Amino acid sequence: MKITVIGAGNVGATAAQRIAEKELANEVVLVDIVEGVPQGKGLDMYESGPIEGFDSKVIGTNSYDETANSDIVVITAGIPRKPGMSRDDLLSTNANIIKSVTEQVVAKSPKSILIVVSNPLDVMVYVAQKVSGFERNRVIGMAGVLDTARYRTFIAMELGVSVEDITALLLGGHGDSMVPLPRYTSVAGIPLPELMTKEKIDAIVKRAQNGGAEIVNFLKTGSAFYAPSAAAVQMVESIVKDKKRVLPCAVYLQGEYGLSGTVVGVPVKLGKNGVEQILEIQLNDEEKALLKKSADDVKTNIDKVKL
Ligand code: LAC
Repeated sequence: MKITVIGAGNVGATAAQRIAEKELANEVVLVDIVEGVPQGKGLDMYESGPIEGFDSKVIGTNSYDETANSDIVVITAGIPRKPGMSRDDLLSTNANIIKSVTEQVVAKSPKSILIVVSNPLDVMVYVAQKVSGFERNRVIGMAGVLDTARYRTFIAMELGVSVEDITALLLGGHGDSMVPLPRYTSVAGIPLPELMTKEKIDAIVKRAQNGGAEIVNFLKTGSAFYAPSAAAVQMVESIVKDKKRVLPCAVYLQGEYGLSGTVVGVPVKLGKNGVEQILEIQLNDEEKALLKKSADDVKTNIDKVKL
């Protein structure tokens, strides 16, 4: 197993570290355009192996040659938000970056599975899919795992229970209109609405929707990276181990949930072939309307991108 991470910033470097520490690949390649940074971070990470007890080889480079024949490529390249910016403000800059990165990745690793992390997430998945020409099961966006992790954290904080007992589902784009589904959220099987008032749930949903901005406002010079990298690596792990975990991920839709030609987060089964199934669940009218609104927001941005 060979895994490449594009972008040696906070998200990329932390993802590479987590992949190496979990020994999900024999070889981890960290790529960045800044000279010396991937080499330095990669070597530093490699040198933590004797202490952490992993044998994954970590290579940092400015060239795509070393990425050849990667099984999975995690794309984190692009600029992050500054306080006051929405994810959508990154659109044109990051679309150009993702286009160029994708072209170089697929030239060297035509059979790889792409996991896109760059923002605005759903549109970047669209760009990577169009530019790569890959089947949609091999171009997957990380957002729902992160958004549900935040949502689960806030529920655990409120109820004082283990995060491990909270399962949750969330649909839609990785933006302010993402759609957490309290009806499909449970604490050890107990539906959330039986444990919390609607007002509390609404407040938690709102905090999850603003979860990225909450961190940006603290950090000021960048965006979140511990939880985003953990989320991307959970997806990597499900593919590497063919675990077939059911996780909310962003994929190109072709009629599922009544949506076509756009990318939004939906529950999918992740295994060695990437997205092996899109699970369609019954939504009530309110949920359907929220998902439609979220998908429309993504589509508006997709239409702005010139490829
Ligand atoms: C966030 C950014 C990475 O949600 O989108 O933190």
